[in-house]
Amino acid sequence: VIRRLCAKYHVHQDSINLGRFHSAAMEGEKKQVTCYLLFSLSTAVIGSLQFGYNTGVINAPEQKLRAFFNSTWMERYGEPISPGVCTIVWSFAVAIFSVGGMVGSFSVGVISNKFGRRKSMIIVNVLALIGGGLMGLCTLCSSFEMIIAGRLVIGLFCGLFTGLTPMYIGEVSPTPLRGAFGTLHQLGVVVGILIAQVFGLESLLGSDKLWPVLLSLTVLPAVLQCALLPFCPESPRYLLINLNEEEQARKALVRLRGYEDVGKDMQEMKEESAKTALEKKVTIPELFRSPAYRQPLLIAVMLQLSQQLSGINAVFYYSTGIFESAGVTQPIYATIGAGVVNTVFTVVSLFLVERAGRRTLHLIGLGGMAISALVMTIALLLKDIEALRYLSIAAVFAFVAMFEMGPGPIPWFIVAELFSQGPRPAAMAVAGCSNWTANFLVGISFPKLEELCGPFVFIIFMLLLIIFFIFTYFKVPETKGRTFDEIACGFSGAAPPVTSSVEEPALPASPVKEKVPLVDAS
Ligand code: GLC
Repeated sequence: VIRRLCAKYHVHQDSINLGRFHSAAMEGEKKQVTCYLLFSLSTAVIGSLQFGYNTGVINAPEQKLRAFFNSTWMERYGEPISPGVCTIVWSFAVAIFSVGGMVGSFSVGVISNKFGRRKSMIIVNVLALIGGGLMGLCTLCSSFEMIIAGRLVIGLFCGLFTGLTPMYIGEVSPTPLRGAFGTLHQLGVVVGILIAQVFGLESLLGSDKLWPVLLSLTVLPAVLQCALLPFCPESPRYLLINLNEEEQARKALVRLRGYEDVGKDMQEMKEESAKTALEKKVTIPELFRSPAYRQPLLIAVMLQLSQQLSGINAVFYYSTGIFESAGVTQPIYATIGAGVVNTVFTVVSLFLVERAGRRTLHLIGLGGMAISALVMTIALLLKDIEALRYLSIAAVFAFVAMFEMGPGPIPWFIVAELFSQGPRPAAMAVAGCSNWTANFLVGISFPKLEELCGPFVFIIFMLLLIIFFIFTYFKVPETKGRTFDEIACGFSGAAPPVTSSVEEPALPASPVKEKVPLVDAS
């Protein structure tokens, strides 16, 4: 992907150090991609990979874990665990991950402002070592509590990274490529899920003996990321706007962009800084109280909800069961197929997002998912017709593909775009927490809903998707090619600054100005 991006923007890949090369001018603006920027982004994306891996890793070894709960119980109490208790312990181990995620994502603002983006990432990795260690040693210690505790800690860790990675990426990327690079977070997530699905095969790490290794493997990327982060720059925006260290910010920017003349970026950050100085650091309660943030906050939260209430994790947590009930033989391979489609379409979105725009792709994704959900319902209803048996696979693949066109990647990075530096960390925390809460709700309720609604279960998601489609159509502005400051100005009703517009200087097609009645800042 990085090679393709380099080719697209005419970047030479002949050096990895302090790339001093420029990309081609496009529409009068330089698109600044250096190897140093790519290196920094890739290092941050290890956090996304971890989130994906830990989302996907728990499914395959379900039976092994249940057997382990039973044997531990036998050892302790001399009798087998009852099926009911076993299911409770199992659901706890699965769901406590999202509970950790909610708490972790909510803490992002405090940590990232106190320690900075880069140091926070280093500190947070300690959680992966603790969580991975607890899960990896559970069989040695004959303790299923260690799995539950490990999942909670890993959830905290992933929750923090779902805020830290998109924030860091958004802050170091040049404006014209912020969407494409923002999608890298989701790419990391989907690759992580796929790796977990493949490693979880019985013939690899999903065996009776090796499943603790599968669960603890998360410590390796954590160590790697800690080793690489010291070579990455702190976010120039954090240095300038939060710490007021202009020279440090300039140096970081020069290294990232690969040339000395970073005056324009500095100017843009200073404008944001001046505004931030006026509005001061925003806490979460202030974010809710201030009418100026109401509109972007509503959009940020609704986009997160559209991602999770689309039902995507019903597929990622339970696809094997869905395929089974649709009569598919070898459902595990269909599940891995879904992981592959998921990855391929995230790459497609990465290349489209700076052309088609966020809003359009999100709409296409939501609409496509609603249609796929309908097809999936038909497939489940007509599963006895031999020829239609594989329609469910096609429908799930289309559902996942459409998800990755927009609803997968866009909500994660658009929050960083909708807010300026002052409220950004608090907004990321609220958005992240809404995402994890909705994730938890779908994860915990889907089996029961399936029991109640049978083959009609995906109709619920179809209806929700239609609601989110309508909301996006009327309320979500296009943020492509606009600086953070311009976007914030769009919401406050002020005129955007003239200095820093990129790619679409006059913003003529922006729905912010034309379609969305924006809130009054007063
Ligand atoms: C997004 C979601 C995550 C989901 C994944 C699937 O990152 O936040 O919950 O599992 O996409 O690709």
